[in-house]
Amino acid sequence: MKNDKPNPLDEVFDKFLSEKSKIFKNRDVLRHSFVPDELPHREKQSRLIAEILAPALQGSIPSNIFCYGKTGTGKTIVAKYVLNYLIDKCNEMNLTIPITELINCRLVDTPYRVLSNLCKSVGVTVPFTGLPTDEVYKRFQLALDSKEQLMIIVLDEVDELVKKDHKKGNDILYDLTRMNYNLEYARVSLIGISNDLKFKQYLDPRVLSSLSEEECVFDAYTANELQDILNQRAGMGFHEKVLEAGVIPFVSALAAQEHGDARRALDLLHKAGDIAERKGQEIVTEADVKKGQKAIESDIVSNTVNKMPLQSKLILYSIYKLENLALADEIKTGDVYYAYSQLCKSINIEFLTQRRVSELITDLDMLGIISASVISKGRYGRTKKIHLQIPKKVITNVVEKDYMIERLKPVDITLNKDKE
Ligand SMILES: Nc1ncnc2c1ncn2[C@@H]1O[C@H](COP(=O)(O)OP(=O)(O)OP(=O)(O)O)[C@@H](O)[C@H]1O
Ligand SMILES: [Mg+2]
Repeated sequence: MKNDKPNPLDEVFDKFLSEKSKIFKNRDVLRHSFVPDELPHREKQSRLIAEILAPALQGSIPSNIFCYGKTGTGKTIVAKYVLNYLIDKCNEMNLTIPITELINCRLVDTPYRVLSNLCKSVGVTVPFTGLPTDEVYKRFQLALDSKEQLMIIVLDEVDELVKKDHKKGNDILYDLTRMNYNLEYARVSLIGISNDLKFKQYLDPRVLSSLSEEECVFDAYTANELQDILNQRAGMGFHEKVLEAGVIPFVSALAAQEHGDARRALDLLHKAGDIAERKGQEIVTEADVKKGQKAIESDIVSNTVNKMPLQSKLILYSIYKLENLALADEIKTGDVYYAYSQLCKSINIEFLTQRRVSELITDLDMLGIISASVISKGRYGRTKKIHLQIPKKVITNVVEKDYMIERLKPVDITLNKDKE
């Protein structure tokens, strides 16, 4: 209840709430978690999955389905969409609603945890750890088979389960894909999803054949298809006439150049909108898309650098310090090693061998963070000429934020005067 005295917080909230965006009508529809009412260009896949699941609603044993395609091609969203639709349909027709469980195996990454999630969805609680996996499986099967019912299990990013532990991953998939043989009353439908196109090669053949009784392929989107997807979202997410005519074709063309990734396209459109909004513009232009592309690329680089192990960061930091010594044209592997060992000594870290450092330099080169071109030193053999390939601000914003490296900021390095 309000009294007469004005509350200073009102000012804060009112200001924020009255500042309506000129660009976005509803940002939520541009987020990854949003599932629209229609999925353009995924009718074939949605239909195939629905056709396989439909008979199971009437008591038949469903086939397992394996969905695969590159990242951002709509696999997860199609699975969610079909499950939501199926549940609505069952409600509408007064049918028993199947139990559905979508598990992301990158997050739930052990067979034990997958099974304990499945247990939970049939009302069985198991401890976090401690039981043998077989026992958890038995409890799940027993509870599920306690009555006539259908359970649809989606194992998203299922390759992660097998990559983490080849044997255990294959074992659980073997059990789950053949579960119907051991069930008397209940039925299970398993949908496996993967974006790793080599996944099939490292699955046991018997697991592969039962997981992929039916296969559903997700091709990369073309630029035109991406335009339809973006138009649908833009209509819901942006105010009318805010997007300059060329914006959606341009975003779609850029995303299609990589591999037709709808996530990337949506992120880029969202970012371009953010940039326009921050500048106080009333429209989003192609120039904003270009800036958005740069910003996304720089986010990717920062993330990669941030996740690198300390030794690689130290090597990168050595190269940065050498470049600051105005040596940019002639940094050689030996210089990096000399600088790197000084840095290690000053924070009391054991340093790697020159050979290992050379390998890490090659890795940094492959990631495009530095360039390292081989040059011949005549009869002295070969070395590499090294350059930083990322903006220096990634070093100051990311590398120097590492608490070990932060201590190296004031450290001056010297050059090895004894080199040939
Ligand atoms: N046909 C479509 N219609 C509308 N939005 C789509 C469509 N396909 C993909 N999207 C959107 O693109 C994004 C990526 O899709 P999704 O998460 O399904 O990709 P994925 O194939 O599962 O990728 P990954 O292999 O990386 O998990 C999502 O935010 C989703 O909303
Ligand atoms: Mg996915």
